[in-house]
Amino acid sequence: MIIQSTTGAASRRGFLARLGLGAAFFTTPGLLAEELSKSNGRIATPAMTEGPYYPDKLPLDTDNDLLIINDSITPAVGEISWVSGCVMDASGQPVGNATVEIWQCDSKSSYIHTQGRNKDGLDGNFQGYGRYQTGATGFYQFRTIKPVSYDLNGMFRAPHIHFAVSRNGRRIFTTQMMVKDHPDNAKDMILSDIEDAKARETILIDFVAVPGSPWGELSAKFDLILGRTVEETDDHKLHGGIGKTDRRKFGGPPGQGMVRPGGGAGGPPSPPPGGKRPDGPPPED
Ligand SMILES: [Fe+2]
Repeated sequence: MIIQSTTGAASRRGFLARLGLGAAFFTTPGLLAEELSKSNGRIATPAMTEGPYYPDKLPLDTDNDLLIINDSITPAVGEISWVSGCVMDASGQPVGNATVEIWQCDSKSSYIHTQGRNKDGLDGNFQGYGRYQTGATGFYQFRTIKPVSYDLNGMFRAPHIHFAVSRNGRRIFTTQMMVKDHPDNAKDMILSDIEDAKARETILIDFVAVPGSPWGELSAKFDLILGRTVEETDDHKLHGGIGKTDRRKFGGPPGQGMVRPGGGAGGPPSPPPGGKRPDGPPPED
């Protein structure tokens, strides 16, 4: 089930109303991006490792609702969370025509990656991965579960959601979102590798109760602020497609697939221009 298209103004109004955001968002161009970026003062989001669990086989459903796979009537187990924000460049300009991908483990601490399964098995109702195509405002949103900690293949991680941003067929940014004030954060080696305290704060996000939600829904706002300008293509045309994963072969030598966060913008090298995942372009809006 797709939560909304980029043209779904009505559903976005409903979504933002639940977050307590007013009608001014729909009457003042650019205000959405402006408001959403105030929370972190436009400090660049640190690039972080992709980790080893980017799906090795994509789910049949890749939309932005990770709670429901296709038309299933059984949702995933977990705390329902609306995760949204804006993709912006270094100057605060929204980044449109970008594909935002997320992936995370389920409530049993298992990824949909075949090597990322906990002994308790998989929640077969959790999509585990989703995509969203940004429009002119750079806005994205997902419905998913509040992330949980895991201990997989000898590595402990505090709760997090992986993010990747692609544009014109190239991966341009990879990072993770974590839960502010979660007690397990103190044990997370990936988080502690971000030395700049202000940069670290930008990925530590509050999950707050959606007012009046009968299902105890949460919302989390996470802006992806790229510490660089975003290049246009030579032909100045829009191209689709998702950039190649940063993932190295699972189980490789230390450092492969578990690259330490480099801080600042950039991260691992981008694939060559035009590089595309074999999975094809993201779905149309
Ligand atoms: Fe992870």
